[in-house]
Amino acid sequence: MAGDLNSDSSSDPVSGAATGAVPVTNVSGRRPLAEPRDEVSQVSTQGEVSDSRADAFLRMNDVRFSYSGSSHPVVDHINMALPAGAIHCLLGRSGCGKSTLLKLAAGLLHPDAGTISVDGEPVLEPDLATGFVFQSPTLLAWLDVLDNVLLPVSLHRKPGATDIADAKTLLEQLGLSDLLHRFPHQLSGGQQSRVAIARALLPKPRLLLMDEPFAALDALTREALQDALLAVCASQGVSVLFVTHDIAEAVYLGDRVMVVEQGSLRCDIAVTVGRPRTSGVRHRADFNAVCMQLREVMEAGERAAVPRMAG
Ligand SMILES: Nc1ncnc2c1ncn2[C@@H]1O[C@H](COP(=O)(O)OP(=O)(O)OP(=O)(O)O)[C@@H](O)[C@H]1O
Ligand SMILES: [Mg+2]
Repeated sequence: MAGDLNSDSSSDPVSGAATGAVPVTNVSGRRPLAEPRDEVSQVSTQGEVSDSRADAFLRMNDVRFSYSGSSHPVVDHINMALPAGAIHCLLGRSGCGKSTLLKLAAGLLHPDAGTISVDGEPVLEPDLATGFVFQSPTLLAWLDVLDNVLLPVSLHRKPGATDIADAKTLLEQLGLSDLLHRFPHQLSGGQQSRVAIARALLPKPRLLLMDEPFAALDALTREALQDALLAVCASQGVSVLFVTHDIAEAVYLGDRVMVVEQGSLRCDIAVTVGRPRTSGVRHRADFNAVCMQLREVMEAGERAAVPRMAG
């Protein structure tokens, strides 16, 4: 089965909001995260990965974007199709355009060319149906854990009993039931990250955009949060586009992993490791084979980049 990045069709952008409150319930056609995955990986050279999957939820078609004042596009020829309920990960060296891609998907930036759509609707501005988790948890210091999670609701209206129950359920799923009334300064970095994830999930987003949310955490905490994220996303059926620098994290979480290189998609690899993914998976040969495959792609990109940088 194909990967799918640099050639597709469809409409426009979505939206992203760190808060927001949207009814979710399951998007029809969503694929359960617990089922085994597709076939194998397909690595291709830049701009050649394609996919004809018809069930794309987030779709980018030949997207190009330049920041104002820059003569070169930061991202170009971007094609991707994220199926409903799937997790796709973006890997790439610093400055290659990963965060820019997330902001485009969120409707925080607008492409100069090409189209972005979510569930068939153009992404024109940030929308409550898209959640955004930043690298820094960005919690409000004067609100306790529960009120930070409820923020997407309280920005619009007074949270009701259902909102509070939903927030508590999420916090329980993320292992924070005992910390409801702590303030951010009383939490560890990993606990703050969990609160940020719960806050993004409270509005039941259809799409979750995550920008290196676990980058600052130690390895064991990261792994625990990866498991928590997989469990919560599976229960909500949310589609996830996840940026990381960590190859093993990308393979553990992702249905597909895409390598971004200088603003373009260098390759798209289907992760053939089945689900559910638990810690033992990390030691399996198939898991390590995908990691190795990605490492080779990234190292090839590094080698090619050295002369360019030197020049
Ligand atoms: N607001 C901005 N104005 C101008 N240039 C920008 C702006 N934001 C980012 N850039 C540039 O766009 C390029 C891509 O930035 P981006 O933040 O998308 O990279 P990234 O892949 O997320 O990097 P990192 O892994 O370090 O977070 C970089 O060269 C960066 O300097
Ligand atoms: Mg970034």
